[in-house]
Amino acid sequence: MSLTNLNEIAEYILSNGKGILAADESTGTIKKRFDSIDTESTELSRRTYREMLFQADGMKGNIGGVILFDETLRQLGADGTLLSEIISNQGALPGIKVDKGLSPLDENSLETVTMGLDDLDERCKEYFKLGAKFTKWRAVINIGNGIPTDKCIEENMIRLADYAKIVQNNNMVPIVEPEVLMDGSHTLNDCFIVTSKVLNSLFIQLKSKDVNIKGTILKPNMVISGTNCSEQAGVQEVAEQTVKCLIENVPEDLSGIAFLSGGQSDIDATAHLDAMNKIGGFKWKLSFSYGRALQQAALKTWLGKEENITSAQSAFSHRALMNKKAATGEWHTGLEN
Ligand code: 13P
Repeated sequence: MSLTNLNEIAEYILSNGKGILAADESTGTIKKRFDSIDTESTELSRRTYREMLFQADGMKGNIGGVILFDETLRQLGADGTLLSEIISNQGALPGIKVDKGLSPLDENSLETVTMGLDDLDERCKEYFKLGAKFTKWRAVINIGNGIPTDKCIEENMIRLADYAKIVQNNNMVPIVEPEVLMDGSHTLNDCFIVTSKVLNSLFIQLKSKDVNIKGTILKPNMVISGTNCSEQAGVQEVAEQTVKCLIENVPEDLSGIAFLSGGQSDIDATAHLDAMNKIGGFKWKLSFSYGRALQQAALKTWLGKEENITSAQSAFSHRALMNKKAATGEWHTGLEN
């Protein structure tokens, strides 16, 4: 596969309803996932788990890119093949998380900024040599009492734009992920207002840094009710408001949009994406870049046991296919059985 131009890479990843598998959990986060199935997180168990996903039949045709953590990009599978090569052999491109997590915006602040710009250029040069075709940087915005502040939004979006520029200078496609968290009791409308503000600010910053929009993938949250909100919006409302928010704030020449799942159930994440694609009326590809919503079923089936690998792979393959159907608006609940 020779994809040299940034726009070609971005389009390939999301072509024909394909989406992205986010398998870039940091060492701390993957430990939490493994704790939930009583499995120790070691270099070997992480490799076994991730190789199981990458070898699954459902990778082919449904997954166009896989986001990896540093350890995984360098790791060999059981037979000595690089995990990134296993991914390529399935028709997907390997990508890499390059942010270094969150730090408080100010002393005593509940708000955060994302770290990792200092040595980013150097790290990108190495990741490119290791075969990464795209990268990810996640900014986190909380909704709560008096937050998000304008300062928090602006500082995070400036960093996302600086990141995107450095990555493109190193010939990789940046995924820009400004995540407005679901945590809290805010309404869907609150989420709409904050997400609009965030996306608006993001594209102002990307433009001001001269980032190539056609060689960029946006990874946003959906416009959704807070987890503790007493009135939970239904599938159609989430889909309509998310599409409205994106149309109002995202330039048409962006290559593609791939949502995060953010703690939604597997079925909600699929149903929302499907409903948006059934509405249509937008120029970009609207697809998925799910972590939990693609992996949860497989993780719970695997339980860290060799004998469960085949059924865990089936569980993962099923979710990958369901989300591909959703990315083309062809999903319905009957397909889940
Ligand atoms: P979730 O789909 O579990 O939110 O993970 C996506 C991701 O990559 C977060 O940065």
